[in-house]
Amino acid sequence: MITLKKKFSDSYNFVFNKTVLMRVDLNVPISDHKITDSTRISKIVPTILRLLEQKAKIIIISHLGRPKGDWNESFSLSVLVNEIEILTKKKVFFLKNNIKSIKRDDVEEKFKDHDLILFENIRFYPEEEKNEDKFVKKLSSFADIFINECFSCSHRAHASISGIPKFLPSFPGELLENEILNLKNLFLVKNENEGVAILGGSKISTKIKLIEFYAKKFSKVLVGGAMANTILYSKGIDIGTSLHEKRMTQFCVDLITKYKDKILLPIDVIVVDKKFKTSPKVKLIEKIAKNEMIVDIGPQSRMLFYNEILKTSVLLWNGPLGLCEQKPFDEGTNYVLGAIKSNKNKNFFSVAGGGDTISLLNQLNCFNDFSFVSTGGGAFLEFVQGSSMPGLTSLNH
Ligand code: 3PG
Repeated sequence: MITLKKKFSDSYNFVFNKTVLMRVDLNVPISDHKITDSTRISKIVPTILRLLEQKAKIIIISHLGRPKGDWNESFSLSVLVNEIEILTKKKVFFLKNNIKSIKRDDVEEKFKDHDLILFENIRFYPEEEKNEDKFVKKLSSFADIFINECFSCSHRAHASISGIPKFLPSFPGELLENEILNLKNLFLVKNENEGVAILGGSKISTKIKLIEFYAKKFSKVLVGGAMANTILYSKGIDIGTSLHEKRMTQFCVDLITKYKDKILLPIDVIVVDKKFKTSPKVKLIEKIAKNEMIVDIGPQSRMLFYNEILKTSVLLWNGPLGLCEQKPFDEGTNYVLGAIKSNKNKNFFSVAGGGDTISLLNQLNCFNDFSFVSTGGGAFLEFVQGSSMPGLTSLNH
């Protein structure tokens, strides 16, 4: 696990009257051209304001979605400008032009009437994901200093993440620093009788290493969502028409054999028929009918998971335990989340992250119950299982 050699505050000595290239993650959920959750924008505001206080000129770089190197208007950052202005209370110039054909002076000019400059989606350039040196040099030519405020992309070896630190003095942003400081707490658990990980979501194939890592490290791993269905299926349980990944059966057989005392699965569930026509029923997992589909964990399982969380002093949460996007199948997740508020252990530390966690916690109104909520999706999952991340190692060069 990495220790950053520099702090955000170290940059203060260098930024006065300088131009700072700041890589952030404005990859926020958008529906009908509207931002549905602006947490990722509000989280970078303190860093922006702090740098402006130090009289820095800031160029913001971000991606939105995965346009795969194509100039695709539906991924334009123009949709974000208004929200950035509202949250920072600063004037933003949105530079739509292709940055490959403009010069630093053209950009600097815009600072005369604006506080911040926002470049168009960096993933419109195929060179970004290829981390091409010529493109990295071009990006670096716009500024004097680089700030990586993008923990959630730091697992990517992209030009604007791990490339720029080769050419510019580079520092972590405040949010990135905070992510690492907080997430590191998970690694302080040295005793196998300590720590609970609660993992949900649909695909066990994306979380193989994570489950194994915490099954080894923590006292319990509680599994819900369709990931649990795959494990139940591998145990020979008839899960009806429930979502699962058949190809992961052997992995699950091995996993459950190795960690049978550590991995806790639902003992009862809420089922409906595939077309959602019948009213939801509570079923013990051995009693699921062929035409039934699991959509949430049942009351006994909620209690079981709740009690495990009450006992622990360290908690890692990732993913929903049921079909949370459809009410009332968010009730199991909501109930178990309630244990976080009720845990009275001195120094209880709880962390959540990965995938759509921020939106989920905001939807269930329990974002603030956690000690820390990561802005990272895939990056969170990589970091918490101890993987090295190019965006972080490059900051130490
Ligand atoms: C995320 O949403 O997790 C980050 O923005 C990274 O996005 P990516 O998986 O497309 O690199």
